[in-house]
Amino acid sequence: MMDNKGIGVGLMGLGVIGGQVAGVMLERKRLLAEQAGCPVILRKIKVIEPDLSKPQLDEIGRQLFTTDEDEFFATPDMDIVIELIGNENPALAYQRRALSAGKHVVTANKEVIAKHGVDLIALARRNGAGLHYEAAVGGGIPLIAPFQRDLLANEVKGISAIINGTTNYILTSMSREGTDFISALKQAQKLGYAETDPKNDIEGIDAAYKIAILASLAFQSQIKPDDVYCEGISKLTSRDFRYASELGFAIKLLAIAKQYDSSVEVRVHPVFIPQNYFLAKVDGVYNAVMVEGDLVGKVTFIGKGAGPLPTSSAVIADVVSAAREITSGVGCVAAWEPKAGKKIKPMSEIETRFYIRMNIADRAGVLAEIAGVLGDNDISIASAIQKEADELSKTAEIVIMTHPAKEKAVQQALAQLEELEVVKEVNNSIRVEE
Ligand code: HSE
Repeated sequence: MMDNKGIGVGLMGLGVIGGQVAGVMLERKRLLAEQAGCPVILRKIKVIEPDLSKPQLDEIGRQLFTTDEDEFFATPDMDIVIELIGNENPALAYQRRALSAGKHVVTANKEVIAKHGVDLIALARRNGAGLHYEAAVGGGIPLIAPFQRDLLANEVKGISAIINGTTNYILTSMSREGTDFISALKQAQKLGYAETDPKNDIEGIDAAYKIAILASLAFQSQIKPDDVYCEGISKLTSRDFRYASELGFAIKLLAIAKQYDSSVEVRVHPVFIPQNYFLAKVDGVYNAVMVEGDLVGKVTFIGKGAGPLPTSSAVIADVVSAAREITSGVGCVAAWEPKAGKKIKPMSEIETRFYIRMNIADRAGVLAEIAGVLGDNDISIASAIQKEADELSKTAEIVIMTHPAKEKAVQQALAQLEELEVVKEVNNSIRVEE
């Protein structure tokens, strides 16, 4: 209920996002009070020991800081806890502790939400609190709220999304400048887009967490990160980009979720998409999420998917929403219910076209052998190009585009091709989304 003391907020984590959120909360006090209907007051900030030397602490006010978890949670009149620590632990324990105490939680933590969101929502409900995570997917792009509200009358047929800015930046550099993967990654790290340990981004794990969250909301069914087939971008080379361009395609890391009558498919992997598709033109660190609903048709959300300013926009909006819920006494906005998940379609049953690049012996009869393996696996060739015969080693490079084929058949055929004496190497195979 409305309290003349205002709404108290505790912040956990003072990294780039946490620092930005604290700054905006202090600078825009008046706006937040107007939006929330009462003052929104930052009462405590939990940091780790080394953070105490940050000059930022003086600007914010040193009396607000603590390194002690118990002291943080004992702060009087703290209604909302913002968790911006990231990763699973100890963030999960902090969120549980806050919700168990009836405090609303606002977070940007996609790993915790993707892995434990259903349990946390149930915990929040039992304690009359709310869990808000708009910033967990797509930074400042409104995604969670539209799925929870504006799109809810729809049967969502599918989502196709670029939801990792780091990989989109790397792929854009490789495509535009012809750079190899390692140089593009180093450049992204130099510019602060990629982390020192880039594994979660480049292996598609970050995108898998995000599509698990979106698909759970869209299909009203719990999709766990382990349900998401996940393949990263580190095997892509500048040659793949050259062929893609020649064939009229762009290469993107797409997160894809599709709903069928009795099952759903959820996957993250590099794809060839036609150059004239909207998602093919989303470059650099931008994210874009295309949703298809049976009533609304196709809608696309696009914007900056990361960074302190866009992320703070989503975090602060969640703080105001939580404050409104507290002051109005209206419970938290419904998120996905903890109900049994829909059947996940195994990757082996997915059907797509494929791009296959191989190094082969350059002599008579080789193509017939390769075509034989594909044919035996019921894979039909749509086109083939052969290039750059190496006189010395008597090898050539061949690129085959297939017609749609079952994943299981393609993987079996690739394994058999590797065994052929005439195939020196299967360099890459990339699915095509059309
Ligand atoms: N590492 C993420 C990205 C940003 O590159 O998109 C935070 O979700």
